[in-house]
Amino acid sequence: DSIQNRESKEKVAEQIANKVKDGDTIGVGSGSTSYLALLAIAQKIKTEALSVRAIPTSIEIALTCISLGIPVVSLQENRPDWYFDGADEVDPNNHLIKGRGGAMFKEKLIMSASSRNYIIIDKSKLVEKLGAQFPVPVEVFPSALMAVEAELKKLGATKILLRPAQGKDGPIISENGNLILDVRFDQIDKDMETKIKCITGVIESGLFQNLKAEIIIA
Ligand code: A5P
Repeated sequence: DSIQNRESKEKVAEQIANKVKDGDTIGVGSGSTSYLALLAIAQKIKTEALSVRAIPTSIEIALTCISLGIPVVSLQENRPDWYFDGADEVDPNNHLIKGRGGAMFKEKLIMSASSRNYIIIDKSKLVEKLGAQFPVPVEVFPSALMAVEAELKKLGATKILLRPAQGKDGPIISENGNLILDVRFDQIDKDMETKIKCITGVIESGLFQNLKAEIIIA
């Protein structure tokens, strides 16, 4: 991150921390902006001695919560009072592309269980059309890979890349044991999320066109 970028992310992190109330269960998104917001929240919990629980969207964020002393709970026992997360692209309808970190399944799961959602971004994430900068990540059950690729092509996919692992050969394996495709489309219509979700073998995509969220821009 540039210094300017980090400073603007820290400002929105403060805004998020200001929303924390005693007794809250908070859904915590993944990525660098969420991380900074979590640090600000931990600070507030400490100084005001608040009782707050977190439902994390990734192992990385769960470990961060634990190291910050924020108790971690699961969606099985608790519903989030509210949720915050970053995004990779936001269009004028507040539709999102997420999932650079590959955590979009849990992100969508926890976001959909929450009645209030905040997406925190800097201006660089605003796009006229989704897909302008980023491909759509699609989490796929491994043995369905070929079949899912064929169906994605029918939906207009122009380029499909199996996301490679970092630091070792082979594809990345998601926290859920699946593969991730990064899929380019020339055109992403308003019902693309639903169409992708209808493909058998797709666990989830990083297109968020059906959930309401308030966008907070640095
Ligand atoms: C994680 O899977 C993503 O959905 C992130 O929310 C997204 O990549 C935003 O990350 P940054 O805040 O680091 O840009």
